[in-house]
Amino acid sequence: MNSIFLRRSQAVFNIVLFLLISMAHFCYSNHFCANSSAAFCSFSLTTYFGTKTRYEDVNPYLLEDPLRVNRDQELLSDSCTPLQMIAVIRHGTRYPTKKQIKKLKQIHKMIKEKARMDTELVMDLKAWEMWYTDLMDGQLVTKGEEDMKNLAVRLASMYPSLYTHEKFKTCQLKFITSSKHRCVNSTTAFIDGLVQNYFGHQKTQVDGLTDVGCAQYVINDELMRFFDHCPKFLTYIEENDTAMHQVDAFKEGPEMRRVLKKIASALHLPVKNINADLIQVAFFTCSFELAIKNENSPWCSLFEEEDSKVLEYLNDLKQYWKRGYGYDINSRSSCGLFHYIFKSLDQAVSESNSSQLISSPVILQFGHAETLQPLLALMGLFKDEEPLDANNFARQTHRKFRSGRIVPYAANLLFVLYHCETASTSEEKYQIQLLLNEKLLPFPHSEKNVSSYQELKEQYSSIFQSCYFKDECELPVINKTSAHEL
Ligand SMILES: *[C@@H]1O[C@H](CO)[C@@H](O)[C@H](O)[C@H]1NC(C)=O
Ligand SMILES: *[C@@H]1O[C@H](CO)[C@@H](O)[C@H](O)[C@H]1NC(C)=O
Ligand SMILES: *[C@@H]1O[C@H](CO)[C@@H](O)[C@H](O)[C@H]1NC(C)=O
Ligand SMILES: *[C@@H]1O[C@H](CO)[C@@H](O)[C@H](O)[C@H]1NC(C)=O
Ligand SMILES: *[C@@H]1O[C@H](CO)[C@@H](O)[C@H](O)[C@H]1NC(C)=O
Ligand SMILES: *[C@@H]1O[C@H](CO)[C@@H](O)[C@H](O)[C@H]1NC(C)=O
Repeated sequence: MNSIFLRRSQAVFNIVLFLLISMAHFCYSNHFCANSSAAFCSFSLTTYFGTKTRYEDVNPYLLEDPLRVNRDQELLSDSCTPLQMIAVIRHGTRYPTKKQIKKLKQIHKMIKEKARMDTELVMDLKAWEMWYTDLMDGQLVTKGEEDMKNLAVRLASMYPSLYTHEKFKTCQLKFITSSKHRCVNSTTAFIDGLVQNYFGHQKTQVDGLTDVGCAQYVINDELMRFFDHCPKFLTYIEENDTAMHQVDAFKEGPEMRRVLKKIASALHLPVKNINADLIQVAFFTCSFELAIKNENSPWCSLFEEEDSKVLEYLNDLKQYWKRGYGYDINSRSSCGLFHYIFKSLDQAVSESNSSQLISSPVILQFGHAETLQPLLALMGLFKDEEPLDANNFARQTHRKFRSGRIVPYAANLLFVLYHCETASTSEEKYQIQLLLNEKLLPFPHSEKNVSSYQELKEQYSSIFQSCYFKDECELPVINKTSAHEL
């Protein structure tokens, strides 16, 4: 009897053990899903990658067809004639930076040397091959070229009257880029995409594009990397050790401590060996492996949804304080880009109004998340009522400021100017729409998807009147004589 009881309880124990193991395995292998439409996914990590988000995670229909155009919205093109498109585009998918690669090496080495138990997760991470090299430092990857080529084809089919071959051939499509490799390569990939669009086959640009089109671009860092040219930004923010104190405080705060404890325990590492920066790089490695190789890497298995939200907030906090509403100089440093865009729109309006040809129907500008985010803030977009700070993670759950939605790889902000036939002369002939990542972006002043050009200019009149790059970015002159006397 005793032995039967023992056998029975052993059997029950075995069943329970089996269930536990299979549940653990299920959680371990399935809580991350690259394909968020798959039925077994309880959540998808991929929406929490912030600035490392794939463009496809913002527009999932592109996973099925990368050339599909989103026609599910009311573009004015049906009733009005597009006159001009000005686009500010973030480069496509890129490699990690040298700094990120260094931190990744550090945590990988630590796991290999110090993890005290070989669980499946730990073994997978130990076996993971460190294939990133310093030379890759932030360069555009092949997938990033595809991002740009496909974007070019989609924009050209959204606005065929602007992207005619004739206009392309005669250099009416203008390309401006940041000097960074990834941006220049993005520009040339975009041009390749257009060539492919016009000719239906791949044609490299190098071999005499003169018969094909106009592949000229200009590098302009003052426009596309204004932050590097703004002394006030550099001194007050970039080189200021205390400017990111909200970010630093969040790294030490209770939400992050909980994540660190949990991950240290999953890795069988002492918690003192890891910190927020190392965990963030592990999280980004999951995003890089997905974006670059389309792989579900073992790094992803470290994170559950709650952890992902905390790491997303850390990324958003940094964007907020360094590029967004956190400090005025962040957005004010983009005044030059703002003025350039509206000067070009003004010119198109005045050319159209005097029945002239539009000299620049398409202006494509290639830059960074750091180019777009300040400009969007200057324009009052994605502004939450409360600032993002180290203490309001929970209250910011439904915040507007989510970098992953706003500036994924290949993010693009489009200003599309239209000429509309109107019955009466009192109606505005010139209308404008904004699109972010190919979706209509309501204007912050009206919440509408369209604005008359005149009305928009009135809304932004204070920027036109007072926001000048030179004035905004100049450091106050220190009167050395009087300072000395003090
Ligand atoms: C994602 O999963 C759905 C449903 O399981 C499937 O129909 C679809 O083809 C998958 N997409 C990709 C890109 O794997
Ligand atoms: C703006 O466009 C989006 C996408 O088509 C639509 O969902 C929304 O209702 C529109 N908003 C207004 C105010 O028309
Ligand atoms: C980017 O451009 C550089 C120089 O033109 C080239 O060496 C590199 O291979 C390019 N990278 C990609 C991904 O095209
Ligand atoms: C650095 O940032 C802090 C916090 O915003 C600010 O109080 C301080 O004046 C800044 N220092 C410089 C040199 O700009
Ligand atoms: C267009 O030209 C007319 C006549 O010169 C002028 O009255 C009007 O203000 C102009 N409209 C715009 C939007 O520039
Ligand atoms: C600097 O301060 C001194 C003493 O207050 C004053 O005489 C001088 O004009 C100031 N110089 C400038 C350039 O403002």
